[in-house]
Amino acid sequence: MSKDSLMKKLEEKIKKCQKCGLSQLRTHAVPGSGSYDAKIMFIGEAPGYWEDQRGLPFVGKAGKILDELLKGIGLRRDDVYITNIVKCRPPGNRDPTDEEIKACSPYLDKQIDIIQPKIIVPLGRHSMTYILKKFGFEPQPISKIHGKVFEARTLFGKILIVPIYHPAVALYRPALKEELQADFRILREILNTKG
Ligand code: URA
Ligand code: SF4
Repeated sequence: MSKDSLMKKLEEKIKKCQKCGLSQLRTHAVPGSGSYDAKIMFIGEAPGYWEDQRGLPFVGKAGKILDELLKGIGLRRDDVYITNIVKCRPPGNRDPTDEEIKACSPYLDKQIDIIQPKIIVPLGRHSMTYILKKFGFEPQPISKIHGKVFEARTLFGKILIVPIYHPAVALYRPALKEELQADFRILREILNTKG
């Protein structure tokens, strides 16, 4: 089956999923958006209010910052794939629970296997923890490892993992915006040399 039909089928499954309690509270599940051939995949935490309303990832305030950061290195949303670890909104935007992450993360694992990106960018602590553990690395404080490059092996070849702060930090800690921009420049360099 083509990437396109595999992803479409998976998205339909996510939209109907009832594997955890968040299914009872959602307006829309948010499978992800962007190119199925993306070299780079961004992984956030979970949908917020606007994402739940629209069924699309990163369309609220944090999304505006992500768009700006992408534009700053010459990328459009359609050049990348954007998703979250948990596909339905936790009430009041609380952190997803371990059970919810456990129930939902097989969808993310499948998305990674289908898209086969060259670079995975976990956004924020939860995503960094899940992705580093998945590929056999010890999670560390995001303040310590943001912008660092981890090389991992997969069945489809070598990938680079570059954890970055969650874009929402720029909303309440404006000083971190420059760190986000610096980390995005690292992504640009990697894409220039390997892309
Ligand atoms: N924050 C996230 O982690 N994901 C979204 O989709 C929106 C905000
Ligand atoms: Fe299913 Fe994930 Fe939504 Fe839970 S959060 S209902 S596991 S799609």
